[in-house]
Amino acid sequence: MSNKSTPLLYMENISKSFPGVKALDNVSLTVRAGTVHALMGENGAGKSTLMKCLFGVYGKDSGRIFLNGEEVSFKNSAEALENGVAMVHQELNQALKLNVMDNMWLGRFPMVNKYLPFTSEKKMYERTKQIFEDLGISVNPKTIMNDMSVSQRQMVEIAKAVSYGSKIIVFDEPTSSLNNREAEHLFRIIDMLRERGCGIIYISHKMEEILRISDEVTVMRDGKWIATKSAKDITVDEIIRLMVGRELTNRYPPKNNEIGDVLLRVENLTAEYAKLYDVSFDARKGEILGVAGLDGSGRTELLENIFGLSARRDGQIYLDGRQVKNRNPAESIKNGFALLTEERRATGIFGILDIKENTAVSSLSRYSIGPILSNRKMKESTQWAIDTMRIKTPSQHTKIRTLSGGNQQKVILGRWLLTEPTVLLLDEPTRGIDVGAKYEIYQLILTLAEKGKTVIMVSSEMPELLGVCDRIIVMSGGRLAGEVNTADTTQEEIMTLAAKFA
Ligand SMILES: Nc1ncnc2c1ncn2[C@@H]1O[C@H](COP(=O)(O)OP(=O)(O)OP(=O)(O)O)[C@@H](O)[C@H]1O
Ligand SMILES: [Mg+2]
Repeated sequence: MSNKSTPLLYMENISKSFPGVKALDNVSLTVRAGTVHALMGENGAGKSTLMKCLFGVYGKDSGRIFLNGEEVSFKNSAEALENGVAMVHQELNQALKLNVMDNMWLGRFPMVNKYLPFTSEKKMYERTKQIFEDLGISVNPKTIMNDMSVSQRQMVEIAKAVSYGSKIIVFDEPTSSLNNREAEHLFRIIDMLRERGCGIIYISHKMEEILRISDEVTVMRDGKWIATKSAKDITVDEIIRLMVGRELTNRYPPKNNEIGDVLLRVENLTAEYAKLYDVSFDARKGEILGVAGLDGSGRTELLENIFGLSARRDGQIYLDGRQVKNRNPAESIKNGFALLTEERRATGIFGILDIKENTAVSSLSRYSIGPILSNRKMKESTQWAIDTMRIKTPSQHTKIRTLSGGNQQKVILGRWLLTEPTVLLLDEPTRGIDVGAKYEIYQLILTLAEKGKTVIMVSSEMPELLGVCDRIIVMSGGRLAGEVNTADTTQEEIMTLAAKFA
């Protein structure tokens, strides 16, 4: 029976294995009503798996789960939802051809009344509208999911989880596809839920937001519980140390790249439909050029337009003094360009292929001897990607869908690095990646620069731009607002430029 000291949720000694992996090894977790509990750990530590065991997506091998002191064991997510447990998943799984309200009510369509078992379109619309209003979300319930941005879809998913009136809500990396303003909005929603007495479990790799919104922090490593601390007694450095199990003194590797002649020259680039006007800049051999700017400043549009993903109204691109057209991605790849997109969870992964196929898919020509694909070469390169980025996987033949979210991203990054591009365009390359693996990715970016490649990298994390790039261009309102040398600039200078045309 429950009383005041009974925790809302108690997970006791949970273990779970998959073929070749012990994903959870005796993990316990206690969440109290009216608190936010952060769950932290490196990619593949077992965070999502623990939550999926709670939510009934996976059956646990052993251990017990108590809600308000009563033992529960949900066989599927519908049962979890009925019992007051909701979850916003790391990977969105929505019916993109349907509209917002169909997605909200999928599987639980409201009836006209209990004698008339027909779904009522009007009722659905009104209730959806009401929920969005309560949460301050401005999305038309009749919009088709496909016509919305990934971040808007994420807000719909959040609204859906909240709409069940659940006591426990799990957010698995909810902000990885939200911009800063949307993230602030989510934090207000979480505060409101906390005040209502809900227990929130919050998974994220963003250290700063964790300490801001959580009351308690639990750290996991290699499927094991490592520590649970009160958020006010712990520092970012301490969390990192617990996560990686060693001291991580430098967050950025030392730089040895030599900057050469101009390799890429972009002149007066203007998009046909996207917000991108008259952008000119150049980038040198061996240089890492950062692109800073606020959300919606045209950073992503700039990379996409260079890569031929959006129509160009005006402007020229020169590579080594020779004009290249880059009218579409295939042509850009042929010209030696590669683009790592920002929303790779939604667009970049071939879920059913295994890791080897996923890594090799963009560089197939490198593996063919005449018409025959060399399996040995593919294997070697894949192993290289697994080793250098420490991709946590039982084998090369593991289906990429079963990897943890962060490890899936490393596979995609490895895929592009293997094409040995001359110009590598990276849009938020470390989003969703844990602190330890970030260091390895910076190291790879630097190695490419040392080989004389040009890297252009968009990031919302200012310290990352300052830590890795040689020079930074700043976008604002779809225009180029200025350019700074990393060695003699400040965050303030960049922020001022970012606001120039905003
Ligand atoms: N369905 C599955 N089949 C096989 N292995 C799985 C499956 N789901 C998870 N795993 C494995 O379990 C381990 C833990 O994965 P999990 O997704 O819980 O990590 P995580 O802590 O959420 O990481 P991230 O921060 O990258 O999201 C990983 O080694 C992963 O490959
Ligand atoms: Mg996860």
